[in-house]
Amino acid sequence: MCFKGARMTKRMGRRDWRWQAFWWHVFFLLWNIIHGQTRYSIPEELERGSLVGNIAKDLNLGLSDIFHRNLRVASEVGKQYFSVDAGKGELVVNDRIDREALCGQRDSCVLPLQVVAENPLQLHRIEVEIRDVNDNAPTFLKSDHVIEIAESTVVGVHFLLEMAEDPDVGNNGLKTYTLSKDDCFTLRVKEIENGRKIPELVLSKSLDREKRAAHSLVLTAVDGGNPVKTGISKITIHVLDINDNVPQFEKSFYKIAVQENSANGSFVITTKATDIDEGLNGEIEYSYGVHTPASVLAIFHIDAVTGDIYLKQSLDFETQASYRIDISAKDKGLPKMEGHCTVQVDVLDVNDNAPEIVLTSKSTSVPEDSNSGTVVALLSIRDLDSGDNSKVSLQLPKGSPFSLKPSFSNNYAMITNGPLDRERVSEFKIEITATDAGSPPLSSTRIIPVSITDVNDNPPLFSQPSYNVYLKENGVPGSILYSVSASDLDSGENAKISYSILDSKVQDVSVSSYVYINSDNGSIYSMHSFDYEKLKVFQIQVQAKDQGSPSLSSNATVHVFIRDQNDNAPAVIYPSSAALGSLSHQRMPRSVKAGHLVTKVTAVDADSGHNAWISYRLAEATDASLFTVNQYTGEVRTKRAVSEQDDSSQRLLVEIKDDGEPAQSTTVTVSILLEDGLHEPILDLRHKLSEPSKKTGRITLYLILSLASVSVLSLVTFLILAVKCIRSSRNGSCCMRRSGCDDYKNPNRNLQIQLNTDGPIKYVEVLGGDMMSQSQSFRSCMSPMSEYSDFTLIKPSSTTDFREVISVLDASLPDSTWTFESQQVS
Ligand SMILES: *[C@@H]1O[C@H](CO)[C@@H](O)[C@H](O)[C@H]1NC(C)=O
Ligand SMILES: *[C@@H]1O[C@H](CO)[C@@H](O)[C@H](O)[C@H]1NC(C)=O
Repeated sequence: MCFKGARMTKRMGRRDWRWQAFWWHVFFLLWNIIHGQTRYSIPEELERGSLVGNIAKDLNLGLSDIFHRNLRVASEVGKQYFSVDAGKGELVVNDRIDREALCGQRDSCVLPLQVVAENPLQLHRIEVEIRDVNDNAPTFLKSDHVIEIAESTVVGVHFLLEMAEDPDVGNNGLKTYTLSKDDCFTLRVKEIENGRKIPELVLSKSLDREKRAAHSLVLTAVDGGNPVKTGISKITIHVLDINDNVPQFEKSFYKIAVQENSANGSFVITTKATDIDEGLNGEIEYSYGVHTPASVLAIFHIDAVTGDIYLKQSLDFETQASYRIDISAKDKGLPKMEGHCTVQVDVLDVNDNAPEIVLTSKSTSVPEDSNSGTVVALLSIRDLDSGDNSKVSLQLPKGSPFSLKPSFSNNYAMITNGPLDRERVSEFKIEITATDAGSPPLSSTRIIPVSITDVNDNPPLFSQPSYNVYLKENGVPGSILYSVSASDLDSGENAKISYSILDSKVQDVSVSSYVYINSDNGSIYSMHSFDYEKLKVFQIQVQAKDQGSPSLSSNATVHVFIRDQNDNAPAVIYPSSAALGSLSHQRMPRSVKAGHLVTKVTAVDADSGHNAWISYRLAEATDASLFTVNQYTGEVRTKRAVSEQDDSSQRLLVEIKDDGEPAQSTTVTVSILLEDGLHEPILDLRHKLSEPSKKTGRITLYLILSLASVSVLSLVTFLILAVKCIRSSRNGSCCMRRSGCDDYKNPNRNLQIQLNTDGPIKYVEVLGGDMMSQSQSFRSCMSPMSEYSDFTLIKPSSTTDFREVISVLDASLPDSTWTFESQQVS
């Protein structure tokens, strides 16, 4: 009904001018023919049949007139809203009367009616005023209304709202608007021409989308009727987002500790920011702050979407122990808003650095006589880790003569703590092990070479304490006699040896006139040709001296033994050519039997050993069948009985030869006279030998004297030996045993055996004949092993049995004539 009414109003508005013309015509017509005017007033929208007024009465018509005169109403407007009740003469409503349809917005609405009565035709005009009834509520064209307002809109801005329409008029028309209550909006009603009212929405408080994104308002249009009628319009206000919120981190400061050995790509921490704006204004992108150092950029990676931080590279506590990372969160609004936070990443130390041993001093040599506590090297220890991981302990190999003395922080002095001996260990390679207290501990080693410098603490030492040198007699002077050598354990100058010969006397002559030593290599040269028959042994004291400061030296003895050469031919003692002339004449009776001793050839050899081993041979004879010569004794005997035919004069040529190499020989001619009737030939011979000259008598006297003197000397010697033996008997060796049981200690034979027990060389001296002369003595060196065995001659390899030689001599010579008189021969 409302809508219909409203539409009708509009239609009427359009036809307004037609209605006006029509009513003007009616008015003039009525003015001319009607003299009385009847007017009724009824509200609109009465029920059909409702009474408007009693026309009959008001027009002074009787009831019968009504019926007979056919009283009826003729509407000037086409539609018949009223009718006349013929019975009562009343005007009743015939149809629904809508004032708004009939009169629109005009203030008065009067319907003119013609009441027609026939017989006679009579025309009456009446008017029915239609009074307005509030039957229309104000209405809005759109019941829903959406307004979008940006949240940044300033307070006080107006927004025009839709007006409501109310077809009713007067008080029943639209009176005012009301707005539901809202914090941000108020209503202002603006009046324009004709009293029309326009509602306006006023922003009374700034909007915040983040608090309230939408506001729902209800605009109510109120009319002035009674009862009041209202119309509503729903107003929805969408607050448009403005990027007015900064992304906000959950914490402004994040702190995390990460082990330095964390793997690449490990997760570190999540930073989270929120932006309460919507859409792009609330979409957050994480990134590093503007002034982020390169070190952070290199190591950390931030996920732009999630804000997670990862390791891009491994951490190193030793390079940087802590990082401060500025993170910014930006939304995608326009302009962008940015929030910040800081992440502190503390790197936790892991024992990943081995301790390092640094040698702070270079002097790593020390003299071998250094006292304990001498500083050898200075060390310092470094460990890049921290805490326990950097607590370092040092170890030296067990048994090394060094120890470590801590000085100020992490510095150590390596000192000696025992005796050093360069000759034992000349260089140490000390392996120092440094171990930290981390878990697991790390260690490193460093080898420190320590060289021990030499001190002259070792004397040169000869290869032997004494040397035995065997030297052939008659050697070439200037030839190398021997080379001694000494060594010195020290080094350098301390081991440079020079050799020298200490002065001593050999047969009253300085030894340096016999030998000469090469001071550089110890070669000893002879400066003489030695004669065994004059000098058999001598000692040289050599000294080796190093060039240290002070220098050290040692001595050694060189025993030089001259070896015999066969340089002497046997010398014939008997028959002596000097005593008996060039020919030795022997007489022999023809009556002798076979085996008769005719004579004995005796010879000596100044050499010794084989060189003095003499053998006899009959070289030539007048009659070789008559005589024979004993090879060993030189006895000349008859082979058979002499016959009458044998020549009275016999000549024998006896060759005497030694056993040397090459052998030397000599010959002697023996003349034998065969005589008839000569009976005691040997006695005769003895008589003849002792009788003829005074010289023989003198020799006998000398013999007696010398025997006596030898006996006395022997006695004295024995006494001395006895005393010596008693003294040295505690040492266990005694020569008396030897002298007590030795057959050769026989004064009758002018033999003296002397045992020398002093010194390293033991030798026996056999003295015969003249005590004053050394030249006839046989001296034999004996090794301690052979002390009590049969002594041998000087040539160690000699197999000659001296006893045999002597026994041969002993057996062959008459006691009285057996003497050593070879000094005359030599
Ligand atoms: C010592 O030096 C001399 C001269 O240079 C040389 O003849 C001799 O053979 C050397 N002796 C040794 C044992 O080398
Ligand atoms: C070597 O002999 C000399 C001379 O006899 C002596 O002065 C020196 O002390 C001896 N040296 C040694 C080490 O025995």
